Amino acid sequence: MRKRKVFLITGASTGIGEATAKLAAEAGYRVVLAARSTGKLEALQDRLGSDNTMVFACDVSDWKAQEKMINTAVEHFGRIDVVLANAGFSKGSSFYGGEDKLDEWREMVLTNVYGPAVTARLCLPKLVKTGGHFLITGSVVGHITSIRNLYSATKWAVTGIAQAIRNEMVGTGIRVTLIEPGVVDTPFWDTVPKPDTPELLPDDVARAVMYAVSQPPHVDVNQVLIRPTGQPH
Ligand SMILES: NC(=O)c1ccc[n+]([C@@H]2O[C@H](COP(=O)([O-])OP(=O)(O)OC[C@H]3O[C@@H](n4cnc5c(N)ncnc54)[C@H](OP(=O)(O)O)[C@@H]3O)[C@@H](O)[C@H]2O)c1
Repeated sequence: MRKRKVFLITGASTGIGEATAKLAAEAGYRVVLAARSTGKLEALQDRLGSDNTMVFACDVSDWKAQEKMINTAVEHFGRIDVVLANAGFSKGSSFYGGEDKLDEWREMVLTNVYGPAVTARLCLPKLVKTGGHFLITGSVVGHITSIRNLYSATKWAVTGIAQAIRNEMVGTGIRVTLIEPGVVDTPFWDTVPKPDTPELLPDDVARAVMYAVSQPPHVDVNQVLIRPTGQPH
């Protein structure tokens, strides 16, 4: 039992993280489900089976909470093989006009940038032991220059984090994949106006994650930039 591989996902309660959890469980992984909404995580656990999953309520902007989550996962399952640092959100956040964004900006930088950096810092020593794989959810807007939006800058930071980790992990056998989705139909858009464009489904991105993860160990899929067909930019 302790030999079965373990897949840890932050932001697993909805959207891309939830869809990836389902595919990972179907592929035979035991899955660690982390986010803040315990109720949604437990509902997902009910669907995936409690033997194969562990739920942990965790705010990724809190180092100590992530440390507890990761240590508990290793105690529970004995190992971590794959990590998807995926928790993130946007609230618009233009640089000019409208209201000042004190708390909103701080919360977004702590969640989108500090959060996955801490996930990496705490998980990489575990992944070195298993010859593991670190994936991180960036965005198309961490690849192109977007207008008006600090969210986009947080995803440029994620692009840099992925590349820096890959450079640092050379020689360890660790693989690092940056997943860069375009517009995906998820609750992400509950807090920001959705652009008028075709959209991906969460499952489309989850399949991209599983494509990278399922390659042989000598193949490191560095990044997957995936837009819905016809997304204008
Ligand atoms: N949807 C898109 O069009 C799109 C495009 C490009 C990139 N992305 C990125 O994809 C990732 C997943 O987003 P999604 O589209 O799947 O949206 P989503 O359905 O809103 O999922 C976001 C997930 O992150 C969790 N989360 C948010 N803040 C958190 C925090 N401080 N600590 C722990 N968990 C937190 C949420 O759960 P709780 O609220 O329960 O904590 C939820 O599970 C994000 O990084 C997002 O930036 C999305």
